[in-house]
Amino acid sequence: MQKKIIVVFFALGLLACGSPKGKTDKLKTSEAPQQVDHPGEVIYKRHCLSCHQVNAGGIPKMYPPLAKNKVISGDKEPLIDIVLNGMSGEIEVNGEIYNGVMASYRNLSDKEVADVLNYLRAGFGNSGEKVTVDDVKALR
Ligand code: HEC
Repeated sequence: MQKKIIVVFFALGLLACGSPKGKTDKLKTSEAPQQVDHPGEVIYKRHCLSCHQVNAGGIPKMYPPLAKNKVISGDKEPLIDIVLNGMSGEIEVNGEIYNGVMASYRNLSDKEVADVLNYLRAGFGNSGEKVTVDDVKALR
């Protein structure tokens, strides 16, 4: 009798240990499509964040903010051109003067350039038509 009880408890124990694992595996697969991290986020963090900062806020007088930025939300061509060829010279962004140098990011692939610009245009108080891989290819 006692043996039977032990066996039952043992089985219950196995079930209890086994089921949460099964559950989390299931959760993971069902949640995967909801992970909508923008592919441009990684590019931004790796290549742009060091100057343009978290939340694309920039550093006053040194690195212009890319948040709420007219150039980011503006025509695609000049925007793509900046990333491919860099830029220098005096500019005014949100009332602040910048006169720095930004290097070319030509080493990024067409898709990476499109992704990072779409990431910036899809948030941060910006907007704009989607930049496509072909747009970047045409200007490279
Ligand atoms: C080493 C610092 C640095 C990095 C890294 C950097 N930038 Fe810049 N960026 C600048 C500077 C400085 C300017 C302003 C140049 C000037 O004064 O003419 C600028 C300007 C810009 C502008 C124009 C803003 C405007 O209002 O005219 C855009 C767009 C831009 N950067 C996008 C990017 C993107 C996208 C990346 C990542 C792929 C990036 N930058 C990486 C320093 C940087």
